[in-house]
Amino acid sequence: MKTRNLYKLIGLVALFASVATVEAEEVEKDPLSGMIIAENWNLVKANCVVCHSTKGFTQIRLDRKNWEKIIKLMQEKNGLWPLGEMEPKILDYLEENYGLSDEHHNPKIRRPLLD
Ligand code: HEC
Repeated sequence: MKTRNLYKLIGLVALFASVATVEAEEVEKDPLSGMIIAENWNLVKANCVVCHSTKGFTQIRLDRKNWEKIIKLMQEKNGLWPLGEMEPKILDYLEENYGLSDEHHNPKIRRPLLD
């Protein structure tokens, strides 16, 4: 590859990276539920805000494995229906938006009562 083309490529990558950073900083939230609006959020809203408010899950941060545990817990103890094909999408959303980030070091964020 010619050097000039390589520089073009680097420029392009840098451009995308900066656009991605700007997007990540602007978190859009649903004014009604307070949920972060991102891919699949409607699915989560439809399935997880039926019995309780969003407080139960927007205030905690878990990795995917533990979000899966929460869903199992909801199903075994609280009567959540089978989610089928929606489950991985719901997990994607929860992991992406309420996953372990720096925020999990924030002591104000409550830890769930997992066994
Ligand atoms: C059929 C009813 C129902 C549905 C649907 C439901 N939950 Fe729950 N959930 C409950 C009940 C009951 C509790 C315990 C009492 C409470 O916190 O209101 C609870 C509690 C929770 C808690 C707190 C657990 C803890 O240990 O602090 C989380 C987190 C949670 N739910 C997440 C979810 C998620 C995510 C979904 C969607 C996949 C969901 N729930 C769907 C009934 C439900």
